[in-house]
Amino acid sequence: MKKNILIVPGDGIGQEVTAVGKKVLDRIAGKFGHEFVYDEALIGHVAIEATGNPLPDESLQKMKASDAVLFGAVGHPRYDNDPSAKVRPEQGLLKMRKELGLYANIRPIKLFDELLGASSIKPEILKGADIMFFRELTGDIYFGEKGRKNNGDTAYDLAEYSRYEVERIARKAFEAARTRRKKLCSVDKANVLETSRLWREVVQKIAPEYPDVEVEHQFVDATAMLLIKDPRRFDVVVTANLFGDILTDEASQIAGSMGMLASASVGDGTGVYEPIHGSAHDITGKGIANPLASILSAALLLDISFGMKAESEKVIGAVDKVLKAGFRTGDIADTHTPSGKVLNTDAMGEQVLKFLE
Ligand code: IPM
Ligand code: MG
Repeated sequence: MKKNILIVPGDGIGQEVTAVGKKVLDRIAGKFGHEFVYDEALIGHVAIEATGNPLPDESLQKMKASDAVLFGAVGHPRYDNDPSAKVRPEQGLLKMRKELGLYANIRPIKLFDELLGASSIKPEILKGADIMFFRELTGDIYFGEKGRKNNGDTAYDLAEYSRYEVERIARKAFEAARTRRKKLCSVDKANVLETSRLWREVVQKIAPEYPDVEVEHQFVDATAMLLIKDPRRFDVVVTANLFGDILTDEASQIAGSMGMLASASVGDGTGVYEPIHGSAHDITGKGIANPLASILSAALLLDISFGMKAESEKVIGAVDKVLKAGFRTGDIADTHTPSGKVLNTDAMGEQVLKFLE
């Protein structure tokens, strides 16, 4: 198959990890007789530096024209400490999600057995945990009207959801649950928020169309607690944009490290695949970032956007073998890891390529 893949590294370690993800895609193309054609585009702080715009039109056009996007991260500490900055790297990411209609952010939380010891949660609580989050990605408080009033002394962010927006993400989650353990947990704050009451109403309304899926509703605060107390009780979780942002960072600890988690953002057009970790400027340039989330994002890309199931499984299998062989990056190493097995970004990439053979 011939496919056009756009590499969008963005900021910080995004550059380092997508370079490795791309190598893995390339090796897969060679092994399976595909032709992957690559292009690159700017987003985030690097795009602001080059053009003044966190998502230049040229980047957006390239995204729309490609078959899939392998994305890195956006962000720069300069803006985090300057709340008055009008142009920010994250605006590029949000605009990309909106413009490409990426309303469903799929974040699989799966623990590789070898990493049981890397989490701060007890192994006996974690073993076997396997959760798939569906985070709504183009609505909620992220995209509602925001502003200041009272001479700037009061600020507001409006959270809004339409029936249509809730229904389309809920249906994706129901369908995924059907292919898994047939359990869906819908997370909201319906005891307080009107958007959450609409959310719950919509999920309840369509639930009878999926009689094989067992549905429960949980409040977001209780979910935050249950994820740590008993992660195995969850199968598919569907939730709003902000709750999903927070809960998936929390859930990353179930997988041992943020450095392990991949995500797929899909919807109307080109799919975007990215690690859930950010730009991590504290380790940028040191060459020590964990590339496995980007590699696993490449695996999701192959599966979801290209329908290449065998190719995707090959990548996941290689990651599994690398971990079984004892190799770790610093973030997933523990006190028992021999120092010779702690690898930097490129060396970890090389090991994955080796185990692809
Ligand atoms: C994520 C990130 C983004 C978000 C930031 C960088 C805007 O945290 O993808 O989870 O909040 O969605
Ligand atoms: Mg986040």
